[in-house]
Amino acid sequence: KQPLSIVKMKQMKEKNEPITMVTAYDYPSAALVEEAGVDMILVGDSLGNVVLGYDSTLPVTIDDMVYHTRAVRRGAPNTFVVADMPFMTYNSTVSETLSGVRRLMQEGHANAVKMEGGVEIALMVDACTKAGVPVVGHIGLTPQAVHQIGGYRIQGKTREDAERLLQDALALERAGACAVVLELVTEQVAEMISKKLSIPTIGIGAGSVTDGQVLVFHDILKYTPSYREKRFVKTYADLGAVIRDSVSQYVKEVKGRSFPAPEHTFRADDQVLESLYG
Ligand code: KIV
Ligand code: NA
Repeated sequence: KQPLSIVKMKQMKEKNEPITMVTAYDYPSAALVEEAGVDMILVGDSLGNVVLGYDSTLPVTIDDMVYHTRAVRRGAPNTFVVADMPFMTYNSTVSETLSGVRRLMQEGHANAVKMEGGVEIALMVDACTKAGVPVVGHIGLTPQAVHQIGGYRIQGKTREDAERLLQDALALERAGACAVVLELVTEQVAEMISKKLSIPTIGIGAGSVTDGQVLVFHDILKYTPSYREKRFVKTYADLGAVIRDSVSQYVKEVKGRSFPAPEHTFRADDQVLESLYG
């Protein structure tokens, strides 16, 4: 199968063929996700929450993103990989933005970068696009702005909010973005934006009308110590329970000396044994 490109992404939108995206943060998850046939992998800064144990994405650094993106690329050499630009790395100067983007592309081997924001980041999206780097925009609930938004709440409920989201999406498209993530926005707003843009929209908590869908790997697999139900997530497995039960079984068997059993054990000839004990 041909890996996705930004050209193919747009053709999929035109053909109304849903684009699938899931996050991954390391080698085995990326390899399994590639085998599962996903169109795009997102190395999200959600790794701050789901693999590093922070309570937001704010502490994630460009070094963290490069490190995880490199591992994902080793696991998924044939999948389109998008890497998140972390908090405060694309808001000051174009040159600082481009130096972070350069690292994600050259050291992390990403195919594209993602940035949160609309009108206010259009200049940075334009600069990256002119440098040959595809940019995915991200509007609606933008977790890096959690302290400004005041929590993780649904966007696009009022007329003014809907209009603002549309202007943000259009600004991203004009600046050259190759796709836009819509996070936690009402279905009507997601549909309106998806129809007005020529580039694909990728939804999370945005209903079924977007051109693609993205979810967090650890969410769909319940691969987390204390999973909190989220209405927009469907869980397809309970890896948390599988891991907890399997490891506790291992502990029990070691304590009870039933592991290792003879089949896990190597033996020398009896003659060797005699010589060992003299
Ligand atoms: O970091 C992330 O996982 C994301 C998705 C939720 C879109 O940005
Ligand atoms: Na993110």
